[in-house]
Amino acid sequence: MTTMTTPAQAQAPSGCDSADDRAALRFECGSDGVAILTFDRPNSGANIFDRSTLEALDHFLAGLAERENLRGLILCSAKPQIFIAGADIDSVLCNADPEETTRLIQLGQDVFQRLSAMPFPTVAAIHGACLGGGYEMALACDYRIATPDRVTKIGLPETLLGIVPAWGGSTRLPRLIGFPRALDLILGGKTVPAKLAKKRGMIDAVVPREHLESFSRRLIERGKAPRLRRPLLNCFPASRVIQFLAKRRLQKKTRGCYPALPAALRLITQNLGLPESKALANERRVVQSLAKSPEARALIDVFRLRERAKKLGRHQHLDSKSSFRSTAVIGAGVMGAGIAHWCSSRGLATTLTDISSEQLARGMKLIVKRYAQGVKRRALTPAESQQGLDRITPFLGPFSLEHHGFVIEAAVEKMPVKKAIFRDLESRIGSHTILATNTSALSISDLAGATSCPDRVVGIHFFNPVHRMPLVEIVRGRDTSEETLQRTLSLIHKIGKLPVVVRDSPGFVVNRLLMPYMIEAGRLLESGVALEVIDEAMLDFGMPMGPLRLLDEVGLDVALHVADTLREALGDRMRSPDIIQQLIDQTRMGRKSNHGFYDYGKRVQPAPSVSSGNRSMSSQHIQERLVAVIINEAARCLEEEVVQDPRDIDFAMIMGTGFAPFRGGPLRHADAHGLTAVLRALQAAEAEPAPLLSAMAAKNQSFYPKSS
Ligand code: NAI
Repeated sequence: MTTMTTPAQAQAPSGCDSADDRAALRFECGSDGVAILTFDRPNSGANIFDRSTLEALDHFLAGLAERENLRGLILCSAKPQIFIAGADIDSVLCNADPEETTRLIQLGQDVFQRLSAMPFPTVAAIHGACLGGGYEMALACDYRIATPDRVTKIGLPETLLGIVPAWGGSTRLPRLIGFPRALDLILGGKTVPAKLAKKRGMIDAVVPREHLESFSRRLIERGKAPRLRRPLLNCFPASRVIQFLAKRRLQKKTRGCYPALPAALRLITQNLGLPESKALANERRVVQSLAKSPEARALIDVFRLRERAKKLGRHQHLDSKSSFRSTAVIGAGVMGAGIAHWCSSRGLATTLTDISSEQLARGMKLIVKRYAQGVKRRALTPAESQQGLDRITPFLGPFSLEHHGFVIEAAVEKMPVKKAIFRDLESRIGSHTILATNTSALSISDLAGATSCPDRVVGIHFFNPVHRMPLVEIVRGRDTSEETLQRTLSLIHKIGKLPVVVRDSPGFVVNRLLMPYMIEAGRLLESGVALEVIDEAMLDFGMPMGPLRLLDEVGLDVALHVADTLREALGDRMRSPDIIQQLIDQTRMGRKSNHGFYDYGKRVQPAPSVSSGNRSMSSQHIQERLVAVIINEAARCLEEEVVQDPRDIDFAMIMGTGFAPFRGGPLRHADAHGLTAVLRALQAAEAEPAPLLSAMAAKNQSFYPKSS
């Protein structure tokens, strides 16, 4: 195999004038006439498509098309975890010059059109994430093969960013795998592992990494892929029936909050029978209008917040003393078992302990169930599930913790119990072990005061259920050292959760902001607004469930306990409405007792005794009041420096509670609607505005810079 002068090096394309840009693509050609193009973006762990990479690819393809001795082309990546992660969002979607966005969409389509028209067979040899534009490039090839490795994920997640695939994906995928499957993938923004991708027809074969190249050569021997026959379900009238059903499902699920979804459905349906050039023109038109929508802007911001959180802890240098090979979890209840399951599934040897053998057995049973669910969902192979289980050691009674990097306490929420546990742990840990607590509301600083190593005490607040909730609040106590904080962030990075760092204060951020929201919903109910009206209003706003249903899920006794703790620390605005105590007195504890605000039988129905109010209030009014109290509490958190940055609040609320992502979080929402409107809604709720909020409204300020 010889390395040849690349077209991009021979003649640097415009916008591709640095040596770094040119090296983003490497070209080799052997004496057998098979060319290999390797994507390897310099100084980065990821390959992405920006103008220079697209232009470099275009130049290569133009040069290759003219060569007579070529028999085929293999496209691959040199990165260990990424094939091509998609388009560069900043330059393609968020360019200050909207004309540049238009030009880049056209450029991407043109380059992939050129690829699909190459006179010799082309193969995408995929290892690592192959997403968005990466998979659209693969769709333009004759063949697609991928490794079975865990890092290999394939899909078109554009709708999650409020746009549609527009480099040919909305046109080529339905032609390849059929209309219904393409809809499922594009409307769900799904990414799937290689085996599932093969089953759905998205790729041609699953091939071990070491055989990718040889298998690609075998495919090239077969010649160009035969023309696809039009799948039956892509034709009228079947396609119309599928569209009708999908539209109904979408409306039910999203209540019209995500315009990209109906737009994608219309686009894909419309494109089914069109010639490619017309279909691509439709893709351009739809994506250009969606990219400007406030929903897309907000969803792109959320994507950026995720990336920002992922970076925390990524580059921390881990010395041997902070080795994360082993962790101990104290308390095998819902949370302890959930944390032990998650840590072990991410490669950590985990010891799980409890004072009660029954509880320990119950915790282990829950863990076995979680692993089985992982296998069922194909997130894990049976072998991986067994290996994860083998990493957990259940243990009754005291044991040495000297070599453990972390001990995570998840026992009952009582300060005297937690203090006793910490004092006992202290005598058994090593000199570098970090003592973490999963408390949801108790003071980390007070707890740390019970030990002689308060600098090594930190809060790691996971959310329930641990395997589903990506957010973790890292709570920095008064004496928590910088080293402890950084090592904790590294642990969270290693186990793949998304951290937000908060100062030790009652309820941290998420519970503190949720509580006034749930309290206000209870007050509206007490004032005579019907339960269904309140919950429906917030579902229409974009919340994953209504506030009263959420109270049922949390458990009314638990909610009351948290409200009482917060009231003690923060005052009467956290006073729980009387209805909660009344329901508890009737043993209506919420979902866990099958009765709460709702009755949980075969169908979930509002309990007749609590849903009979007939006070009329508009959906908009309910939404404004309930969201205003969240914003108000968020302003207090900023004022008290519980977090430093409005982005932390928005991120925590979206990831920790599902706050309508297309609104970008409570503070983005406040900026969009104006702080004066928030103050008006607070007045209607008879809530005292936070001083920061009043001051900002008076000066016509916003939480984010006005241009962002
Ligand atoms: P749980 O009541 O289900 O489990 C607590 C476990 O701790 C029990 O198995 C109990 O036997 C064990 N335990 C009690 N004293 C112990 C000791 N001295 N040594 C070892 N084990 C002991 O409680 P859950 O819900 O798992 O909560 C645990 C912690 O996580 C609490 O601090 C809670 O506030 C917090 N949390 C709970 C969330 C939830 O949704 N349940 C969410 C986030 C945090």
